[in-house]
Amino acid sequence: MKPLRVDIITIFPDYFREAFDYGIVRRARAAGLVSIRAHDLRAWTSDKHRMVDDRPYGGGDGMVLKPEPIFAAVESLTGASRRESITAGKRVVLLSPQGRRFTQALAADLASSEQVVLICGRYEGVDERVADALVTDEISIGDYVLSGGEPAALVIIDAMVRLLPGALGSETSATNESFADGLLDYPHYTRPPDFKGMRAPEVLLTGNHAEIARWRRDASMDKTKRNRPDLLK
Ligand code: ADE
Repeated sequence: MKPLRVDIITIFPDYFREAFDYGIVRRARAAGLVSIRAHDLRAWTSDKHRMVDDRPYGGGDGMVLKPEPIFAAVESLTGASRRESITAGKRVVLLSPQGRRFTQALAADLASSEQVVLICGRYEGVDERVADALVTDEISIGDYVLSGGEPAALVIIDAMVRLLPGALGSETSATNESFADGLLDYPHYTRPPDFKGMRAPEVLLTGNHAEIARWRRDASMDKTKRNRPDLLK
């Protein structure tokens, strides 16, 4: 299979220097399942000051990322200069707090692409013509404001890469975890059976697989009710 190609567009490429050198992402890269590159947005500026941002029309605080370098970057990385010409199998994602919420389902959808381009917003915003005419998706990782899209890019890449076939030790690992079935994962225990008076549930020590499966289902449901009742609605 061709590796998933991930391109990050950022004004802080060094932010990602070691980010993909650990754990599952490292192994997936080594196995040729994914290739990840961070690109400096300034490489696509053409003025002598290499300006990537400018003052907002209409006034207000902060600076806005200019459209020209972002359109040029996406064109050189995908061959397309507008959303309409982006071919099926390629996704161009703008990371912003105004995007639709990132979920496990969206992670799986993105992971099935051939190429994902992640545009990291900065400062007070990104010229809206990027969202309007260039990207296929505008995504937020949650209802809070980051100072830039870079941490969001890390989150999305991690969630995608572990879903690539062969990325996890066992093919079934990703089907048992939180959100795979709309519930949170069940609690896990390992030795010792008694840690400072806190006991692991006896049923897990019995070897009775039917009982263990039932306990896990119930524990999953209890935890979901307690921590994420919204998932049950
Ligand atoms: N940039 C700033 N905040 C963000 C968020 N919550 N998700 C994605 N990108 C962002």
